[in-house]
Amino acid sequence: MTMLVVGMPGNELFATSLANHLGADYVTVAEHRFPDEEVLVRFPRKIENLDIVLVCTLDRPDNKILPLLFAAGTARQLGAKRVGLVAPYLCYMRQDKVFHEGEAISARLFAKIMSQNLDWIATAEPHLHRIHTLHEIFGIPAIAVRADKAIADWIGREVQNPLLIGPDSESAQWLEAVAARIGCPFAVLTKERRGDDHVIVSQIAPQVLASRTPVILDDVISTGQTILQASASLKNAGTGKPVVVGVHAVFANNAYALVESAASRVVTTNTILHHSNNIDIVPCVARAIREQSSI
Ligand code: R5P
Repeated sequence: MTMLVVGMPGNELFATSLANHLGADYVTVAEHRFPDEEVLVRFPRKIENLDIVLVCTLDRPDNKILPLLFAAGTARQLGAKRVGLVAPYLCYMRQDKVFHEGEAISARLFAKIMSQNLDWIATAEPHLHRIHTLHEIFGIPAIAVRADKAIADWIGREVQNPLLIGPDSESAQWLEAVAARIGCPFAVLTKERRGDDHVIVSQIAPQVLASRTPVILDDVISTGQTILQASASLKNAGTGKPVVVGVHAVFANNAYALVESAASRVVTTNTILHHSNNIDIVPCVARAIREQSSI
């Protein structure tokens, strides 16, 4: 079946690169905002019988989801054979349980909506914590693409004698995988979140650092507080500013400036377009799509 990669507006860079890696044609969905802020989407070419790969990263998601669902529905209406989604960053995954009575479990609700409107979904390093696999929440084939090789290659190339630091227990999964690939030590701190902007990260023992270059590795950098507090813990242990590697460059408000001030270098993957993007995960995504027989 012939594949067509279709970028939602703002995703052109990632989507054209993905199309190149897949050897597929590419178009961008046209999006019009009416004065009342309603949205209209339009496919600029015929898509009948094609295998459509929509590309839409889902940071700041609420204004992106409706146009995306309209595009998916329109693709079906126009005769596409299948409609899949590559969402390099998958939103709402951190609200994976009821923390306070009456709250939504957004991860499950969001996955249900997407499953009703798509044939498959692929994303990179989704925040899997209390939900262990995407299949627990998605009713369609769902691929979680690993970024550990791309990250390990970058650290191995750019950092001398690294010690990987995970700021919280969730980060252990990436840390172990990346450290194993590089063959370097790692340490996992503990974190308590007391509010959106308030986290407390445990102290690290100075002897763990030896004469290594600390590299803080986390999946999502949102307010930047997790990185700031982990970096403060390193400072207390008497080491210099760490290299910071994030998978998803969400950077809410002034988070990038905060993180930059506490780091010797800040590097992210290109799941969310940002000037700190230095690690390209498109080849990993393309490979996962090609290899996944259930798609
Ligand atoms: C949380 O569990 C994640 O792995 C990240 O540590 C968290 O999302 C970072 O958020 P922030 O930058 O707001 O501290």
